[in-house]
Amino acid sequence: MKVTAAAPAKINLQLSVGALRADGYHDLVTVYQALDLRDEVTIFERAEGMGVQCGISGDFSSGVPGDESNLAVKAVKLVAELAGVSCDLNIQITKRIPVAAGLAGGSADAAAALVVAAELYGYGGDLQPLAEQLGSDVAFSLLGGTALGTSRGEVVVPVLARGNYCWVIISSSNGLSTPRVYQKLDQLRDEGAVREPLQLAPKNELLQALVSGSATEIAAHLSNDLQPAALALAPKLQRILDVAVEDGALASLVAGSGPTCIALAKDHDHALDIAARISGQNLADRVLVATSPAAGTEITAIEKN
Ligand code: C5P
Repeated sequence: MKVTAAAPAKINLQLSVGALRADGYHDLVTVYQALDLRDEVTIFERAEGMGVQCGISGDFSSGVPGDESNLAVKAVKLVAELAGVSCDLNIQITKRIPVAAGLAGGSADAAAALVVAAELYGYGGDLQPLAEQLGSDVAFSLLGGTALGTSRGEVVVPVLARGNYCWVIISSSNGLSTPRVYQKLDQLRDEGAVREPLQLAPKNELLQALVSGSATEIAAHLSNDLQPAALALAPKLQRILDVAVEDGALASLVAGSGPTCIALAKDHDHALDIAARISGQNLADRVLVATSPAAGTEITAIEKN
């Protein structure tokens, strides 16, 4: 049997970061939204004893490891272990989500691999604890839609949201390492350059804006505590953020830990317009247009032998 699943990229409409915890993570409160920008993972079984092989293709395949460090490989091994079977699989990942970009592309691959492996092995257990083990954003990638994330981001509950939002996704090739961006934030806070939030809580104004379904309302309440840290490590991003707004975006911000920048448009045509203008200015490697919210991880094809 050959099974394919698609899993979405995420953006954070709010990303509030608390103090560093003893386990090396930061407590956070985030409002996630899934994008209709998806990676695809296809898996089929190999002969017993052959182990796992992982190939990467697609627009953003460059530099993605196919070895044990790939979260999709870790994910299938976890499911095989719990299903009590030997793990002999061929994994093919089609990368359409920019890599090391702050869009949780690696987490999307892990989520898709969990769902496909569960299907292949007939594993009916809860995938949520496995998602939590694999990374902070994997649980959201499974769920999709709009959700509130707490703890280190892995505890997710759906949030009411109306409307669809059109984004320009401006990607840079120099990936920022997520741990480094969090460390930089701690450093900036130690130096007194930025402050920790007084209260780690969802922002009511943003939640109300999501209920209203108005892009203008959402634009006024987007926030990302990691942005000063990402900008300190990659100062050129500020220009991208400014240009997006000069080019007519309702708002722009760094996506998660960056270096991708996202800009909110009024509608799809407006997003295409802004994307065309940004593309013409040679500031970014790739400029894409995507819509949120989108579905979580889902099986898109099953081929029986
Ligand atoms: O969970 P994930 O593997 O995606 O996290 C990558 C790194 O990002 C962690 O090792 C940690 O340094 C940082 N992180 C954090 N607090 C979070 C999420 C991630 O400090 N809530």
